[in-house]
Amino acid sequence: MHQLTLTAKDNVMLFPLLSELAEAHGTIEDPELIRRAPVLACSLPPHLLEFLEEFRTCEPSAVCLVSGLDMDERVLGPTPEHWRNTEHASTSLPQEIFFLLCAARLGDVFGWSTQQDGRIMHDVLPIKGHEHYELGSNSLQHLSWHTEDAFHPCRGDYVALMCLKNPDLAETMVCDAGDLDWDALDVEALFEAEFTQMPDNSHLPQNTAQSTGNPVQDRLRARSFALIQSWNENPVKRPVLFGDRHDPYMALDPYHMKKDDWSDRMLRAFQDLCDQIEKNMQDISLRPGDCAFIDNFRAVHGRKSFRPRYDGSDRWLKRLNITRNIRGSRAWRPSAADRIIY
Ligand SMILES: [Fe+2]
Repeated sequence: MHQLTLTAKDNVMLFPLLSELAEAHGTIEDPELIRRAPVLACSLPPHLLEFLEEFRTCEPSAVCLVSGLDMDERVLGPTPEHWRNTEHASTSLPQEIFFLLCAARLGDVFGWSTQQDGRIMHDVLPIKGHEHYELGSNSLQHLSWHTEDAFHPCRGDYVALMCLKNPDLAETMVCDAGDLDWDALDVEALFEAEFTQMPDNSHLPQNTAQSTGNPVQDRLRARSFALIQSWNENPVKRPVLFGDRHDPYMALDPYHMKKDDWSDRMLRAFQDLCDQIEKNMQDISLRPGDCAFIDNFRAVHGRKSFRPRYDGSDRWLKRLNITRNIRGSRAWRPSAADRIIY
């Protein structure tokens, strides 16, 4: 893992900047803050900037962990019961801004109109009733490992997690493509567009609000939901591997794949890949103040099961999607400046 721990001096230097930005912008969803993030990020400590740049350009590991950011659980207050309840006056805004600025060094942050009501920064927390549902808000069952948004051509280059609380040290699972033995796999077969990938449950209409409150956005979002429905009914076949045949990138979400009409060769190649991924899976217990940037081309990720508490002390993470090619989604966004994919 590519890892850096912030020093006490870093925290002393960072907090006036983060507090000032928190005061000026009020919410992480302020488009002005998101627009300014790449410029504001130049004020991060130089050794952190160098560390993030090395991760972005050299791909030394599929996971980059920045730890040691000051996080006071007493200031955070209770973990909300639902991500929808986190809308106003966030208690972790300075930390969220730090997370945003680090993300802005890797690419552009973006959101999905079909996920968590179109927010840029998501909350990951256990929700009552979702315990056994295949969704990040489940708890008693594993969250199956996957590429984030594997079904979508605009999926992010990175998915990032910042830990606010993790009292029982629930484990995030990550497998690094660099740990796989590609010579033992049928790479040629896995490069073929023969693998049926479906949308995942987090993009279903029942998991988001009925209306955005804006008729134009509602219309665009309805178009997105219709497209997702069409991909569910007529799933698109895609390659599982792409890039360099000797050191490939991956895009797969086995839980949401339909294997009905795959050939024996494709089935075998896919199963062998999944077996290797399982064998090389590593566990990471995120601690408060940890920011993990997972390379969504180089890693698949998931989460082990844990027992939710529902007493305000539950595991609570923030999540960001980051792309290095924001213009790749221009046809899906109402304007060049818009960061939400419809
Ligand atoms: Fe995920």
